[in-house]
Amino acid sequence: MSRVEVLITEEEIKARISEIAEAITEKYAGQEILLLGILNGSVFFMTELARLIGCPVEMEFMAASSYGSETQSSGHVIITKDLERPVTGKHVIIAEDIIDTGRTISLMTDMLLEQEPASLEVAALLDKPDRRVVDFKAEYTGFEIPDVFVVGCGLDAGQKYRDLTFIGVISEE
Ligand code: PRP
Repeated sequence: MSRVEVLITEEEIKARISEIAEAITEKYAGQEILLLGILNGSVFFMTELARLIGCPVEMEFMAASSYGSETQSSGHVIITKDLERPVTGKHVIIAEDIIDTGRTISLMTDMLLEQEPASLEVAALLDKPDRRVVDFKAEYTGFEIPDVFVVGCGLDAGQKYRDLTFIGVISEE
């Protein structure tokens, strides 16, 4: 049997997302933001952030896959859903649930920069710096966490647990 132990509570997550939204609102005052969610994991973080940002927010989605159903990164990132229109001239903020090896976000930012957005920043709910393979630092980070396998708030284990309102660690009993 496995059970999920709380690592970060729902209250802590909400409070931190609110702080990030406040920082973004202040920085982009008077401008429109294109919030770009990387499916599937970013959905809960992205929608919460979108609602709390005080500037007008457009929402777009891309999807990448690196893990498949495994818990270890394959090292190969595939774009499984691309943008339907370019982000040229837009103030883009990518919303990610987690930066792990950094491969996905590096690929995404490189691709988007080619389209010449007005600006490009990254907001990540979680960051696992110990796992980094490609150097990357997000402008906005919710929580730095150790190298443990986490679920909840968009993060899955074999597509399960994404809907948990907290971030948890699975432990075998
Ligand atoms: C996860 C996560 C990030 C990426 C981070 O996505 O949502 O996009 O891995 O890992 P990296 O820094 O090692 O590239 P995943 O491919 O598991 O898809 P999902 O969002 O649908 O769960």
